[in-house]
Amino acid sequence: MRYEEIRKLDEAYYMNTFGARTPVAFSEGKGIHLYTEEGVCYTDFMAGIAVTALGHSHPKFVSRLKEQVGKLLHTSSLYYIENQARLAEKIVKCSAADRVFFANSGAEANEGAIKLAKIYHYKKSNPEKSEIITLVNSFHGRTLATVAATGQEKYQKPYRPLTPGFSHVPLGDFDALTSAVTDNTAAIMLELVQGESGVHPAEIEYIKAIRKLCDDKEILFIVDEVQTGMGRTGKLFAYEHYGIEPDIFTLAKALGGGVPIGAVCAKQFVADAFSPGDHGTTFGGNPLATCAGCAVFDILEEEKLVENSAEVGAYMKEKLSALSTEFPVISEVRGMGLMIGVEFAEPIAKDVQAKLLEKKYLVGAVGTTVLRLVPPLVLSKNDVDEFITVLKECLI
Ligand SMILES: Cc1ncc(COP(=O)(O)O)c(C=O)c1O
Repeated sequence: MRYEEIRKLDEAYYMNTFGARTPVAFSEGKGIHLYTEEGVCYTDFMAGIAVTALGHSHPKFVSRLKEQVGKLLHTSSLYYIENQARLAEKIVKCSAADRVFFANSGAEANEGAIKLAKIYHYKKSNPEKSEIITLVNSFHGRTLATVAATGQEKYQKPYRPLTPGFSHVPLGDFDALTSAVTDNTAAIMLELVQGESGVHPAEIEYIKAIRKLCDDKEILFIVDEVQTGMGRTGKLFAYEHYGIEPDIFTLAKALGGGVPIGAVCAKQFVADAFSPGDHGTTFGGNPLATCAGCAVFDILEEEKLVENSAEVGAYMKEKLSALSTEFPVISEVRGMGLMIGVEFAEPIAKDVQAKLLEKKYLVGAVGTTVLRLVPPLVLSKNDVDEFITVLKECLI
């Protein structure tokens, strides 16, 4: 079906939550490229919002999924599921977590983490310890509790009254955080690199201080790794950059390589708070989604894609930073691994994004001043060089 027909169909039947989308529809993908029905090739520096870490249609990934689709899609967790158990093992073996629960998205994983933090204190006979502190400009999802957790008025306004018990403090302001802590604080929840608000990494000392604060006050530390996890920042999990371990962390996006899945990952002492019946899901961790997760883990390891994210990400950051001499409109280049934000001194982000689109590059724009780059982790230095050449043409 051609783009115009798809757009008309969409406008007639789909709920208009996305407004005017980028005027293109893709029918195929390969590596870091996406193709329209007409065969026009685009280079993908968005990876479906930081999802397709392996690139599109990775042959090994496709063959693992095909095999699983032909065998079994879904049984529900009423029964034991081999892939579910295997993927949980893989996550535990390489992370700070001892236990895992699978959901279907990032928001749902964060809901699970919030519920787990609350029930942890409830079962310790401390039900009033139910409040969660998150950060201003954070993003944790679109469900009612995660909208309340998300420190951005624009997502909250139409949905008041919000789920109670959430407060927000500015990123990096440890004094504001300590002042916000009360006897009722159950958890502090944050992204180590705020993604949706324009790629803002937290400072190491700030995060270490939060870890200590949580330990001192019996507060759980929840790290939202929905976007930063699975190698995006050049380590498998972003908390590894910070020399701390969270009590709970959440995953989604790249975990399924494009197949929807989320995960709540927790230390044993926290996970113990969930008893049978306290939480659940129909689809979460089904044979297909967890096959995808297992395959993503295997391919990340076989092809050293986490290392690639660190190396190519550092290269891209260096090249982008070097551009700022020639183009002083670039005021800052931020990020870790292949999660990079380019800040402009003028409100040109949307224009640059549009020009890149004309040259068949897909990138993100946050507000008017930030270009957001979250390409597949299979990106090469050569791909970066080509992108830099095109970006220069768009900045002239
Ligand atoms: C840090 C973070 N948390 C949660 C979410 C929500 O994930 P999902 O859209 O899969 O519900 C996102 C999505 O962008 C995210 O970046």
